[in-house]
Amino acid sequence: MSTPPKVPLLDLTRQYQQLAEGVRQRVAEVFAKQQFVLGDTVEHFERRFCEMFGTAHAVGMSSGTDAELAVFMALGIGRGDAVITTPYTFFATAGCIDRLGAETVFADICPDTMHLDANRVAQTLATMRRNADGTLLTQRGNRLRALVPVHLFGSVCDMDALQKLADEYQLAVLEDASQAVGAKYPSTTGTRDAGTFGEAAWFSFFPTKNLGGAGDGGMAVCQNPGLAARLRAMRNHGMTASYHHEMVGGNFRLDALQSAVLQEKLPHLAAWNAKRRHNAALYKRLFQEFLPEGGVVLPAEPWAASGIADHHTFHQYVIRVANRDHVKQHLSGAGIGHAVYYPLPLHLQPCFAHLGYGSGDFPEAERASRESLALPIFPELEEHEILAVAKAVSEAVKSRTETNR
Ligand SMILES: Cc1ncc(COP(=O)(O)O)c(C=O)c1O
Repeated sequence: MSTPPKVPLLDLTRQYQQLAEGVRQRVAEVFAKQQFVLGDTVEHFERRFCEMFGTAHAVGMSSGTDAELAVFMALGIGRGDAVITTPYTFFATAGCIDRLGAETVFADICPDTMHLDANRVAQTLATMRRNADGTLLTQRGNRLRALVPVHLFGSVCDMDALQKLADEYQLAVLEDASQAVGAKYPSTTGTRDAGTFGEAAWFSFFPTKNLGGAGDGGMAVCQNPGLAARLRAMRNHGMTASYHHEMVGGNFRLDALQSAVLQEKLPHLAAWNAKRRHNAALYKRLFQEFLPEGGVVLPAEPWAASGIADHHTFHQYVIRVANRDHVKQHLSGAGIGHAVYYPLPLHLQPCFAHLGYGSGDFPEAERASRESLALPIFPELEEHEILAVAKAVSEAVKSRTETNR
């Protein structure tokens, strides 16, 4: 039998212990009603989601991936179109674009935030041909329709800068907010929630997310009622009236059981996100103490100076170290949970070889893949565990530096 880690990367059982009674009750209500697919429970959760995250419409989906797919399908993005996004994200972001026959165009990330870099996007757009109507054509002759920022690891991309580019080139902004539920951004138009900038956005309720279900789940959100109606149809085979299909959709429906669990968790999210920030602040203090000469790059908090409480939700706490694989080995030996998000950027994934990108095309994404290391950050972590993680990382960094001398 393998021994449990001294500090797990994530332990969902601790959260469940606090919620068990409420979750059981809600699940029992769904069983009593025997309405498992869509219906009141899902609608109620969708309404609460809108109220909490400042969006007009929320459409529950079977996963974050399916929510993304439904958004593209509802906007008619497919063959002959292109979408620009980051190569440093979870696979689904680009996987959905490709599955629909559209071309994925990548632009590199900012070295500090690891978000899509507006300057790189601008450079890429500047290389494209412009149609008479002002829209852009990629080298392959596809029409660039959308810009997909990914609010990676729990903080929002620089949306003012990206929106400006989208306006200039008539691109739909479609936010991948899968990792940023509850995160806010200090826009020049006021403080705004992740998911409220573009024409549409999607969230993931994968169990490991800050708001995680008891299985797969997701949400597509938008401000426009017409688009919301198309999304509702799209998640149900494109059906607009009983067995009448205006478009081809899929089965992307959110289950009532998932909605019930998520509904029970929703009121706790703000406190959980605050605890994640508290844990991040403790890491910062400890690393400053243990590694006064540096050696570890801590996660950027690009909107901290704004004073907004939810400027970061630390879905992941991702440090960067030059000697990452040595640190990883040391942490494994010390029983400290960790993970690499993401070891191979999307432009180098074999399934995207047809896009024609190669090594060296996006140096910042490639460097992030070599240096990133996610440490435990979940809300129920205890201080002594954070101390153990910070000590183990610092020892590894120091031992490597000493061997190099
Ligand atoms: C950035 C990003 N996009 C999309 C997804 C897909 O969400 P799901 O796993 O719910 O399909 C995820 C989930 O891991 C994600 O992190």
